[in-house]
Amino acid sequence: MRVLVLTGAGVSAESGIPTFRGKDGYWRNLDPAKLATPEAFARDPKLVWEWYRERRQRIRSARPNAAHAAIAKLAQHADEFLLVTQNVDDLHARSGLRADKMVQIHGDIFVTRCSRCDFGFTEGMEEQQEIPKCTRCAALMRPGVVWFGEQLPWKELQRVENYLDRGACDLVIVAGTTATFGYIVDWALRASPERFRGELIEVNPEETPLSEFATQRIHESAAVALPKIVDQVITS
Ligand code: OAD
Repeated sequence: MRVLVLTGAGVSAESGIPTFRGKDGYWRNLDPAKLATPEAFARDPKLVWEWYRERRQRIRSARPNAAHAAIAKLAQHADEFLLVTQNVDDLHARSGLRADKMVQIHGDIFVTRCSRCDFGFTEGMEEQQEIPKCTRCAALMRPGVVWFGEQLPWKELQRVENYLDRGACDLVIVAGTTATFGYIVDWALRASPERFRGELIEVNPEETPLSEFATQRIHESAAVALPKIVDQVITS
């Protein structure tokens, strides 16, 4: 069985991490869609760092939920498996999913990297209070995530493309994402071409641009729906 899973913020919602476009997403009355931009960082790097540091702390104290656990279980049972997550948290990894089975296409919130050169490191538990400066070139350091309008990281993109090029999937699950980015819709459809008759399951309480293409629409939360789906797949 060849499987592709695509996840978004909704999968971490039940771990207490606010989604981007949900009502809890606002921070100090600011829209995350406006904070997660190169323009916001250029204008007020301190403010953007404060937001990311708060998110980091929240993620550190959060725990993976039943949706993360179900996806990790599915990975163990599939012959070929890839998770492509838009989430920058580490909850998929902490639920036991191996790094070679997962692509964080929007980066990793715990990485701090230079805004100019290629220097970067993974942050430990201690957050600095200052805006970090690169020890190599003295430019401002920034969170290692993809912001609106930025290109996707090349290596991660290649891993997704390679997986899709190797053939269609028997099962594609898209969970907890508004699928607003064209590439998410595109990858789901490429992995599940109509002529191949694979399953394309969408888990989301709301409709998305992908809904009309899904072979199954599950209007439940990810932590409720995914354990049931995975158990069904494994036993069938
Ligand atoms: P969004 O915040 O746009 O959407 C969250 C989705 O999860 C919505 O479709 C909700 O209906 C759904 N949802 C909420 N709670 C859920 C639950 N418990 N179970 C299942 N689904 C639930 O988040 P993303 O689609 O991940 O990118 O957003 C994609 C990207 O936009 C993010 O990675 C980020 C953001 O801006 C960048 O920063 C580049």
